[in-house]
Amino acid sequence: MDLVAAIVAAHAGREGPLLPILHDVQAAQGHVSEEAIRTIAHGLNLSRAEVHGVVSFYHDFRTQPDPRPVVKLCRAEACQARGVEALVAALPPQNQVRIETVYCLGLCSAGPAALAAGRPHARLDAAKLAALVEAAT
Ligand code: FES
Repeated sequence: MDLVAAIVAAHAGREGPLLPILHDVQAAQGHVSEEAIRTIAHGLNLSRAEVHGVVSFYHDFRTQPDPRPVVKLCRAEACQARGVEALVAALPPQNQVRIETVYCLGLCSAGPAALAAGRPHARLDAAKLAALVEAAT
């Protein structure tokens, strides 16, 4: 049994298994490949279009590997009120780090906030965010 089939089997009988399966597959493989979508669809008796629709709906799921480091930047209301959009606009162009948008990291009173290398960062300004991106490369 391959890894994806084993993940599907581990969630067998669970109510609403698709999202947990997709999270586990992405955690194990770094993305959810077309082959994995086919295996998941078969295992859950869904169409590939149904599984693909869920994968493409959620930003966190990728169908292609992307080995770049990630900086997750909160762009929810409190961080917007604290100027996160100006920080995004001030970021120098680069593509060595994947900047992902998240909606609240639980640091609302200390925003703008980000998560990089598994650690939260608060009270960001342009220089701190640029340093985070630089450190992630
Ligand atoms: S709104 Fe940004 S951390 Fe909560």
